[in-house]
Formats: sequence, structure tokens, C-alpha cells
Amino acid sequence: MCTFGRISFRTPCYTFYTMRNNTDLYTTVAQLMQSGKGILAADESDATAGKRLEIAKLPNQPGNRQDFRELLFTAPGVEEYLSGVILYDSTIRETTDQGTPFADVLAARGIVPGIKVDMGVKPIPGFDGEVITKGLDGLEDRCKEYFDIGARFTKWRAVITIGDGIPTDECIELNAVRMAEYALVVQSQGMVPMVEPEVLFAGTHSLAEAEEVTTRALTVLFATLKKYHVDLKGLILKSSMVLAGDTYQDQSSCDDVASATLRTFKLSVPRDVGGIVFLSGGQTPKRATENLQAIASYGAQPWPITFSYSRAIQEPVLIAWQGKPENVTLAQKVLLYRTRMNSLAQQGKYVSGEDLKDQK
Ligand code: 13P
Repeated sequence: MCTFGRISFRTPCYTFYTMRNNTDLYTTVAQLMQSGKGILAADESDATAGKRLEIAKLPNQPGNRQDFRELLFTAPGVEEYLSGVILYDSTIRETTDQGTPFADVLAARGIVPGIKVDMGVKPIPGFDGEVITKGLDGLEDRCKEYFDIGARFTKWRAVITIGDGIPTDECIELNAVRMAEYALVVQSQGMVPMVEPEVLFAGTHSLAEAEEVTTRALTVLFATLKKYHVDLKGLILKSSMVLAGDTYQDQSSCDDVASATLRTFKLSVPRDVGGIVFLSGGQTPKRATENLQAIASYGAQPWPITFSYSRAIQEPVLIAWQGKPENVTLAQKVLLYRTRMNSLAQQGKYVSGEDLKDQK
């Protein structure tokens, strides 16, 4: 039973979600997936932002977090390479030193503000080493507020670990059901859901194992999203690239990564999905760009594909900045350079030798 005002229906509510006119969602997807642009993930929780600030040898204080985000969001020309920025709850409420809300700064430059809405992970009882993502409680109300602040897309991250006997099907299924419920709520509030089942890079697994697990996770995820009538055209997949674990004996070539990743998507991602973006997952900035280039060099795919990196964009910027006002211009140039390299890679136009200023 489903109630709209004083009228009750026997049809489940999710049917009404799908009956919405989703044109606005498709417009947002098209904005985010413009050729030559990608997304900056700046949605670290306050605790994780502290780990980033350590790179610049800065303490994890609100002022340092605000200074760094202001540096990123006001960098001259960055709108040429960024279509969207993902923010965190405390960040979307922050302003520049002049008092302009960050969401407004981005929107004024044609960059779509997004918001991470999950609330992190917790262990699944009885499933050692596996986690489930939290954050469905109060999600609808939070979405209404974020929409009013200016957000037009959202992110939900699930974590999948490859290890001895894991991931289990149960872990994959449980996370998929939550992502479906999340996506329905977000679409009903006029925002694009980004679903991110991150298969962790950390580990000793081979490329073939990563391919098997990613294919399994994405197949279950999309079967579940379809079952719950999520509008796939108004949704973006944020995926890990298919990579051998960071401590596996052989590191794969960019071409091996690209072909394994595209094989995985072709088997498991429906053609009508709005777009696919990549997390960087702990790869060096240069490697994340090179792998994106290798993927783009296979030519057009059923979905637009681009980057949505956090560490692979932010780390070199933090190294250049070091928290010093006199380094802000240099750090913004590094940001522009890194996003331009990723923009070229997204179009299959990046040449590794040109990456002269690469900073790992
Ligand atoms: P990384 O690019 O650092 O993996 O972060 C992307 C992200 O959004 C993780 O949720």
C-alpha cells in the first residue's frame, strides 16, 4: 500500500518513483558526462580529510580543510576540465573567505555540485572482513536539504574486499539492495544517484581475480537496480578500474587493465546506464591518467566514461600547497595541470611523455 495525500494505492511506491518525469536527471547526467571533463571527488569525511592534510604537513583543523577546498574550487580555469565536484556534508555548508557558499561558487562556474550521502561502513555480523554501508535513515529529508543548498547529484560508496573466501555473495547482495533503495530515494528527490561499489585495490589478488569479483558485483548490482525499477538512464556508476592488488607480484600493463575493465563492463553494465566514472583507488596520479587513456583508446563505448578522482588529483596539489598562502597559485596550477591531463586521457589524447611535471 502506498499513500499520496489522501489517496492510497495498492501499487508499491517505487512504481511512482519511476513514473516521475526524469528529464532533469538526464540533463544532469549529460552535464556531468560532457566530453573532455570529469569529476573531482572532494567528499572526504572530516576524519579522512585529515589524512589528506598530513600530505601538506598540516593539522586536521576546520580552517585548513576550508582553505584547501577554497583553493580547489576557485582555481582559475578549472571549469574547463571539471563537470562536477562531490562534496561532504560539512563542506557543502561551508563558504569562501568572502562568504560565498561553496555550492554557489561551483554552480556559478558551470560545475555541478554533488554530495556524498552515505554514512560510512560497518562490519556485517557473521561475515568476517566484510562491511555494509550505512546512511538510509533520514535520507529523503537530507536529500531535500541538499537539493535546496544546490546539490544535483549524490554518491553512495560500498566497499568490496577481495580476500580469503571474500567477497561473499551475501555481502554483494546486501550492499546492492541498499544501493537500490538509496538510488530510488535520490531520484525521487530530483538528483542523480552515483552508485560506487568500490573493489579495493589493496591486496594480493591477481588481475583475473579482480575481474571476476568486479563482474560479479556489478552484475548483481544492476540486476538489483532493475528489479527495484531504478531509472538507469538517470544514474551514474562509479567504479574501480580492474586492477591486480597493490601487493600482487606482477603489476599489469595499462592495456591489460583497460581490456579487463572494458570486458567487465560489457558483461555487467546495461547499455542504458547514464555514464561510468572511475575512482583512482590509490593508484599514483600518473598511473590513474595512463589507465584512463588506455581505456579511452579502445574508442566509443555504450556509455560515456570519465574520471571522478580524489587522491589522484588532490595529492600533487597538497604537495605543492603545503598550507602556505604564497603557494596557492602554484597549487592551483598543479590542479589545472592534473585535471587537464585527465581531460586529455578521457578523450584518448594523452601522451605519457608529455606528462613532464608528473608528481607522484
Ligand atoms: P579516490 O580517487 O581517492 O579513490 O577517491 C574517489 C572516491 O570518491 C572514493 O569514494
